[in-house]
Amino acid sequence: MTHSPLPVRVPLVLEPQGILESLRTARRNVLEIIPDIATKQPIVSGKTAIVKWHMVMDPKALRRVLLENLDNYPKSNVTKNILEPAIGDSLFVAEGAHWRWQRRAASPVFSHRNVQNLGPIMERAAERSVERVQQHLGRAMDLFDEMTKTTFDVISDVTFSGDDGIDQMAIHDAIDRYIEDIAKVSILDIIGVPTWVPRPGRITGSRGLKAMKKMADRAIEDRKTGGARDIPDLLDLLLDGEDPKTKRQMSTAELRDNLLTFIVAGHETTALTLSWALYLCAFDPQVQEKARLEAQSVLNGRTATAEDVPNLPYIRMIIDETLRLYPPAAFLSRTAQGTDQLCDRDIWKGDTVMLPVYALHRNELIWPEPDKFDPERFSDPKAIDRYAYLPFGNGPRVCIGAQFALQEAVMILASLLSKFKFTSIPGKDPQPIMILTLRPEGGVWLMVEEV
Ligand code: HEM
Repeated sequence: MTHSPLPVRVPLVLEPQGILESLRTARRNVLEIIPDIATKQPIVSGKTAIVKWHMVMDPKALRRVLLENLDNYPKSNVTKNILEPAIGDSLFVAEGAHWRWQRRAASPVFSHRNVQNLGPIMERAAERSVERVQQHLGRAMDLFDEMTKTTFDVISDVTFSGDDGIDQMAIHDAIDRYIEDIAKVSILDIIGVPTWVPRPGRITGSRGLKAMKKMADRAIEDRKTGGARDIPDLLDLLLDGEDPKTKRQMSTAELRDNLLTFIVAGHETTALTLSWALYLCAFDPQVQEKARLEAQSVLNGRTATAEDVPNLPYIRMIIDETLRLYPPAAFLSRTAQGTDQLCDRDIWKGDTVMLPVYALHRNELIWPEPDKFDPERFSDPKAIDRYAYLPFGNGPRVCIGAQFALQEAVMILASLLSKFKFTSIPGKDPQPIMILTLRPEGGVWLMVEEV
């Protein structure tokens, strides 16, 4: 089969000036605001309505935003407006002291040891996925749909495992609907135009969300009286967690908001990683074959365990390169609290500072042949500037679930590749659409064969 030489990419706009006119249209796609020059320059600035914005693609400047001058760059209001109805003032959106104590209380939950202990849950989900894929031998299958099921299996099992009061399907539906709502976010929110400027389709807390919160509260109360399970899940660990400095523990509402945060932040992102990885493996059959040989020699016909992960370095390189080309969190955003300088450019209080991770990962000043799929780039991760590659952000607010997600992705990808061959279908390439996450529009349809 012939392939185009490069995997699919977001068609970036050559002229970003048309933004104001395009605001009249109800739903816009974020990809329309990232100009192509963001892949060629370290910083791009502009002004829209009354807001000045900057897109930063320079590793040194990113280090300043995410680490050295962190307090000057809290998460932007848009992030809060979108996420607060669902997850309250939890770890993902909180700032200052309220963020710090929650981070300290939640950090042990994601220790290497605890993440490894959750391995059997990921293993079972991988096994169930293998069984479902098996049903599609010789046929086409939407692997985005399949990976969404699989990662939901994991996240619902590690949050409310086996709780009677929890209707997992209802939670799944509520989250699906909420993520669909997020997809309607206006370009005005992203640029940071104040909320009094009217925009279409504002997100309101949906009824589904309210029902979901109630269910979660009930499960937490039950668990407080019922005790922990044999393998403690994230809820058990969080129930035990306390801020080592202040000894403060989370209330039921705080526990619930943080658990829902883990679901919202961890479920779709990991499904996207796996879906794009499978798309790329089908795109480059040689890479797929090399990965399969590694997986087969380590697994010998069984499903991957957490202990296998260090022995699957090539599968991990594929995941790393997938997260470069299709970072699920394609776009982070901050609001400057005071004056600063980034790349010799003046930043003023109130400016929106955007971190377009998609454009950073394809910036020609940083990456040779940036659009090319080449897992070998990650054969020596130390050679890569830590602020040039930001699929999980960086600094104190780096993703708390990164190790969890990487372990899960490596285990599931290795288990699938050891058993199945995935082939692309001409004319069925997914279209990458960047909203807040980078999604494969139309799904990832691949032919499935037994190996
Ligand atoms: C491949 C999968 C994932 C990706 C690409 C991803 C990406 C990110 C990114 C980029 C951030 C930083 C956002 C910012 O600085 O504005 C973040 C933060 C966060 N992520 Fe993830 N994430 C993933 C999986 C997970 C999982 C599995 C969990 C939990 C189970 C999780 C929980 C969180 C939380 C709680 C934060 C906020 C941390 C803080 O501010 O202290 N993520 N994630």
